[in-house]
Amino acid sequence: MHAKAPWDMSVNRRILEMEYAVRGPIPQRAAELKQRGKRIIPCNLGNPQALGQQPISFYREVLSLVEHPVRIERERRLKALFNGGALDGPGRLGGPGGLGPDGPGGLEQDDFHSDYVLDLSERYLAQMETGMGAYSDSSGPRFIREAVADFIDRRDGADDADRGTVPRSDPDQVFITNGASEAVRYVIDLLIDDESDGIMIPIPQYPLYSAAIKRCGGVQVDYFLDEESGWALDRDLLESSLEAARGRGVSVKAIVVINPGNPTGAVLGEETVREVVAFAGDNGLAIIADEVYQENVYGGDAGFVSIARVLGRSGVPLFSVHSTSKGYYGECGHRGGYLEIRNAPRVRNTELSFTDLVLKQASVNICSNTVGQLMMYLLVNPPPENAEPYRRFTNERRTILEDLHEKAVMIRSGFDQMEGVSCFGRTGAMYLFPRLDRLPEGTNDFDYCMALLERTGLVTVNGEGFGQRPGTSHLRIAFLPPREVIEEVLPKWIAFHNAYVN
Ligand SMILES: Cc1ncc(COP(=O)(O)O)c(C=O)c1O
Repeated sequence: MHAKAPWDMSVNRRILEMEYAVRGPIPQRAAELKQRGKRIIPCNLGNPQALGQQPISFYREVLSLVEHPVRIERERRLKALFNGGALDGPGRLGGPGGLGPDGPGGLEQDDFHSDYVLDLSERYLAQMETGMGAYSDSSGPRFIREAVADFIDRRDGADDADRGTVPRSDPDQVFITNGASEAVRYVIDLLIDDESDGIMIPIPQYPLYSAAIKRCGGVQVDYFLDEESGWALDRDLLESSLEAARGRGVSVKAIVVINPGNPTGAVLGEETVREVVAFAGDNGLAIIADEVYQENVYGGDAGFVSIARVLGRSGVPLFSVHSTSKGYYGECGHRGGYLEIRNAPRVRNTELSFTDLVLKQASVNICSNTVGQLMMYLLVNPPPENAEPYRRFTNERRTILEDLHEKAVMIRSGFDQMEGVSCFGRTGAMYLFPRLDRLPEGTNDFDYCMALLERTGLVTVNGEGFGQRPGTSHLRIAFLPPREVIEEVLPKWIAFHNAYVN
């Protein structure tokens, strides 16, 4: 018999060493404070619905119906009764005493699901064939992958496969995943074979990348973004980082581009996207394009340009990911994502392509969750202009995006009243990443964020959690809390800040 529990066991050292600051010590302390009754405002994560953002009604209507399909037929019958006015007496739907607009039930046409939603739900289930509770194909049902490919083509203005400058997306190169995170892991797991394999990642970065590389035992090759030029991506900085890594014997295989950026919010212009593609092409690197914030571009000027669009017919391998967690959808908990592969590399010394091996990984997981698959289907199939849900859908979408922008502007203007705080670049994604230039001697951005939490309940992540230029200090805040909460907490933050730095 062994000694009493707990036993000691060695573990995978790479997992032990993995770091993920957005759920690190600061949020852990926040959880303790919450337990003790302190009011906490969790701005450490881009998790919109945790901060009160309402889901898009159209998505939830379809979701509720496909999860419980008997309601589709029941809804149709109720609607027919209501519309036909067949029942209009007491105990009836339409008239006084009934359930209709004049009766105590007060039901209106809008209280029923539209025919569009009912038909779509029915069609969706028919295409799923085996319903929401069964495993699907490992890469996701084909009709969803086709819908994703159509979405990408519409977004990028793809034209005829033989003649156009943007080739069409191929549904066989699309995988529906449990969020973008799983998609990224599939790719990084494949790319890193031994400890000399490296992947270039932006600094600052979203720590999924550093963690995934660490887990596989590869080399994280940092390239710095130029803060004072609005977190621009600079070809010279890319070249020097690559050269230095190769000089150290690292076999660099890919470059990660996060656009719009997390944590910086920076949005890459078309020229920069072209430069990245040229850089990858010239240096034999694949591109991992994290485009989960493609809808989170504010303020009207230059919008999002995908890497796929600019890649054109060059042979550069591209792995791009998208998610149902961000944008105006904010369905983080439902874990929907996709991976699209272009120019899949051949696997050396085999007849296989990268796509075959992504499929193998997806097969081991059996399939992604079916609710996430549905969410992705709805994301890429918004209601068309002539459909009943269109107006409400577009109003909800506009309200969410305008609200996000206004909240970002409010917080940014608060920085003007904080001594030694500057915030560079356009507003994109869901975050602001201000620089803290005047921290007291002997303290760092971690100490600052911890003290901010203790004083105001505001949970942020210190810059070091994303990587930053040595000698600089930052924090990241997600601009997601309701406006009233920002109005209340911002003056407290300003007061805290000016006292802390002096
Ligand atoms: C840049 C970036 N990529 C990927 C993800 C993960 O997205 P998902 O929820 O789809 O896994 C996040 C989440 O915050 C993110 O910020």
